[in-house]
Formats: sequence, structure tokens, C-alpha cells
Amino acid sequence: MTNVKIVYASVTGNDEDIAYVLEEKFEELGADVEISEIQQTDAADFEDVDICVIATFTYDEGIVPDEALDFYEDMQELDLTGKIYGTCGSGDHYYGDFCRAVDEFAKIFDQVGAIKGAEPVKIELEPEEKDIADLDEFAEELMKKV
Ligand SMILES: Cc1cc2nc3c(=O)[nH]c(=O)nc-3n(C[C@H](O)[C@H](O)[C@H](O)COP(=O)(O)O)c2cc1C
Repeated sequence: MTNVKIVYASVTGNDEDIAYVLEEKFEELGADVEISEIQQTDAADFEDVDICVIATFTYDEGIVPDEALDFYEDMQELDLTGKIYGTCGSGDHYYGDFCRAVDEFAKIFDQVGAIKGAEPVKIELEPEEKDIADLDEFAEELMKKV
């Protein structure tokens, strides 16, 4: 069975919603899914799964949100060679750099040897119907890469 780990960073709930949309889809596709909040998660958990997913919001200061910084730094010490990864998240076009943290996490996955399984999904605030369809497709693509 394919194992999936979804880690989310969320203050107002949008990325938590995204994570639960993905969990439901991965389960429908037959995966064994674990989901957790980024500050409650050991980055090394990604070493034990087939598919690694991050759902994160973006704040205008810092590379990634403060809440995600320890995890982001710990990830740089991992060896995720051969793992499939996907990044996604919620942002707001009102701010300058839309969903920057989604791309910053992707860079780290690339650096530590993981393989991008799907293009990042970037969502304006909370996930709407169209975004849920994009997230479903994202999960399907990741599953196909394993
Ligand atoms: C002070 C502040 C700064 C923000 N900066 C950015 C930003 O630089 N880029 C972006 O895409 N969104 C930015 N946002 C929007 C949040 O990422 C967005 O509201 C997101 O949906 C929050 O996710 P959450 O509900 O999971 O916490 C900012 C929001 C606030 C309140």
C-alpha cells in the first residue's frame, strides 16, 4: 500500500482544509494517509513514506512562515532520495509574492533528492470547488508516480 504523509501549516484554517481535502482523495485512491500540523511533526517522518506533501500558507516576512521554519530547516538535513513530493498551499494575491512558501518548500525537496510528482497547487484563500478539483488531480498525479 502507498503511504502518504501530509504536513500542513495553517493559522486561519485554509491550509488545514486543503490538507483534509487531499487526505480524503488519497484515501479514495487507496493510500494509507497520515496528516499532521507542521509544529507537531518531525520532518524525519517523511523518510518513512512514499509520498511527501506540504500544504502551507505564506506570510510576507521570511522565506516560510515562522510556524514552519523549524520544520523547513530540519528538512534540509534529510535524505529523501527517490521519494515523490508535492507542495501546495493557500495565499492571497493582495500580497506581493503569491504563495511563495509553496515554492520554497519545493526547492528544499529538490535539494534533498525527492522527485516532484505534480506541479504545485496554489489557492486563493479557502479552497473552492475548482480548487478541490485541482487538488484531486494533484493527488492522482502523485499516486501515479509511485
Ligand atoms: C500579514 C499577512 C501577510 C501575508 N503575506 C502573504 C504573502 O506574502 N503572499 C501570499 O500569497 N499570501 C500572504 N498572506 C495571505 C495568507 O497566506 C492567506 O490568508 C492564507 O490563506 C492563510 O492560510 P491559513 O488559513 O492556512 O492560515 C498574508 C496574510 C497576512 C495576514
